[in-house]
Amino acid sequence: CGGSWFESPSDGSLSVRRLLVQAYLDLFCLSQEKLRQVSGQLKKDMVRGLGKHTHHKAPVKMLPSFVRATPDGTEKGDFLALDLGGTNFRVLHVRVVEDLQKVLKMDSQICAIPKEMMLGTGQQLFDHIAKCLSDFLVSQDLKGQTLPLGFTFSFPCEQKEIDKSILIRWTKGFNCSGVEGEDVVKLLKEAIHRRGDFDIGSVAMVNDTVGTMMSCGYRDQSCEIGMIIGTGTNACYMEEMKNVKRVEGEDGRMCINTEWGGFGDDGSLRGIQTEFDLEVDKTSINPGVHTFEKMISGMYLGEIVRLLLLKLTEDKLLFEGQTSETLRTPESFLTKFISELSEEGKQPILSQLNLKWNEVDAHVVRLVCDTVSSRSARLCAAALAAIANHMRVSRKLDRLKTTVGVDGTVYRKHPNFSEELQETVRLLAPKCDITFLVSEDGSGKGAAMVTAVAQRLALQSRL
Ligand code: GLC
Repeated sequence: CGGSWFESPSDGSLSVRRLLVQAYLDLFCLSQEKLRQVSGQLKKDMVRGLGKHTHHKAPVKMLPSFVRATPDGTEKGDFLALDLGGTNFRVLHVRVVEDLQKVLKMDSQICAIPKEMMLGTGQQLFDHIAKCLSDFLVSQDLKGQTLPLGFTFSFPCEQKEIDKSILIRWTKGFNCSGVEGEDVVKLLKEAIHRRGDFDIGSVAMVNDTVGTMMSCGYRDQSCEIGMIIGTGTNACYMEEMKNVKRVEGEDGRMCINTEWGGFGDDGSLRGIQTEFDLEVDKTSINPGVHTFEKMISGMYLGEIVRLLLLKLTEDKLLFEGQTSETLRTPESFLTKFISELSEEGKQPILSQLNLKWNEVDAHVVRLVCDTVSSRSARLCAAALAAIANHMRVSRKLDRLKTTVGVDGTVYRKHPNFSEELQETVRLLAPKCDITFLVSEDGSGKGAAMVTAVAQRLALQSRL
């Protein structure tokens, strides 16, 4: 762990510096044994989250999604999809074509959500969403139609039904007033009625992990896990109904949104949190909430790197002890720098941070980035292994063969991230054969897919 330093440093001061830097990096290096413990702890917390009497205190919420089936390839129709929860808000028009077994994106539009709106009132947010939807329908000449709508809302929600979804709490930098504890579908419909210039058909609420699983499910019917490692991190999977104690019924399966981002909120990860993780949590808008996510996802990785670079500089192990105003500014080290810090990337990035650097400094910065992103990949692997092991045991299988639909910028863009994650899962879940499928727009097409499956099931039950 920690990558390689320069080959046989020629002078003694370099090797002392190397040891001192390594001592910081070691805080982020998790042995296989540690990862196994993390995985085991999450498995226990998943069971607590599912239980009727243990759920209310469980840090991992294990939320029923009311998605009871993955696509069977006979779904079809035109749908609208909304996607809120990453960096932007999107509206899409999606067509599911049965014969081609394909989900086609007809058109889409991105609407920015200004930072003030992320922290404003719920009414402002939903009025903005309704306006974007209205503008899109006009531009697509769809205003007269009442299309069913899939709403990817990537925050923890207590779902009562597929179209009733109560926000438990905001995450990832959102904090609009008057939404926590409320039904998001109702707030959306009220905003549409306030406008009065268009209407929508039935609504299906979807977490992005569920959308991701469902969008891959159309291509690979053994896709029963969805995972996101982007601005936030989370996963869902198909659970046996008999284990979902908070929903009536014993037969079949239901997709469970784990909300694994909240793992550790009861202090169980305290042993592996570094001083830098604690600082990131303390200065966030929601201290104590989503501990695991804050060690892993794109919203926080850059900040962890920045704090570590500052510390190394203060200890005179970097940049000759000289920090810069920019490096001292929170969030100035963007998570995307971690993947852009190649040979060609280092010059523009380090100069943008107003740092005076030499080759050894650049090398140390790379090591820091690699170490922080490698810990993220390994922690995700431990969590994914917990899900896969749990599925194998509850299905009473000797071996589990399954596919994970994945999305998120950190997984897609960070060099070696997917390799390291996959390699580590293989070690931690040796009795599971896991295939990884990168989702093509799970939040958009997947939401339409959930709506299409819900429609198919509703039609079938009427026959
Ligand atoms: C956060 C949200 C969760 C979402 C994840 C990935 O953890 O709470 O619902 O799935 O981010 O976007």
